[in-house]
Amino acid sequence: MTEENPSRRAFIATGAAAVALTAVSSPIAQSKPLVLTPQCVDDDDTPSNIEGPYFKRNSPERTNLRTAGVTGVVLSLTGFVYTLKCQPISHALLDFWQADDKGAYDNSSPAYKMRGHQFTNASGAYVLETVVPKDYPGRTPHIHVKVQAPHGPILTTQLFFPDNLKAYGMNVAALNRRDRFIDRDCEVALGPLVGNRYTAKFDFVIDT
Ligand SMILES: [Fe+2]
Repeated sequence: MTEENPSRRAFIATGAAAVALTAVSSPIAQSKPLVLTPQCVDDDDTPSNIEGPYFKRNSPERTNLRTAGVTGVVLSLTGFVYTLKCQPISHALLDFWQADDKGAYDNSSPAYKMRGHQFTNASGAYVLETVVPKDYPGRTPHIHVKVQAPHGPILTTQLFFPDNLKAYGMNVAALNRRDRFIDRDCEVALGPLVGNRYTAKFDFVIDT
């Protein structure tokens, strides 16, 4: 078993509890579609963004990008992939790639450092264990991702961080302000920094 399994189970359990609570506590739940998450609004799909020059095909399948030699501020990113009608999508593909803690992409082969693809579980959930990417010239810190429902169109986009992110001495507020491609609709919900670890959440809403 891998080390991310406990957090994955905990996260899914929390999500299930939240759904159950909504169903029980709302008297109108029976007459209205169940709202699975505040992050998903009908037909409010996740915006696309540029692929950029550093995408590589055939990334390894893995949920943990903290492979040997990877250093930096740890980031545990979790979330769901939903349809435009806010139904969770199982076995959706997520292919992540990002810069490391020095703002560099690994373009060598077959290393594929800081690159990996995975599939959502039966609940539509994903878990990515990685590190906060550093900025690089012209760009604020961001994580690239392609998301695809089985047999659906590919969404290519980027995830961003709130201005209060603290890592590597970056002035994220200033970097965000100057970035040409930033999209605040693709900003992760960032938890507090605990030790050397951030947790963050982001739900994707995609066409199927
Ligand atoms: Fe990039």
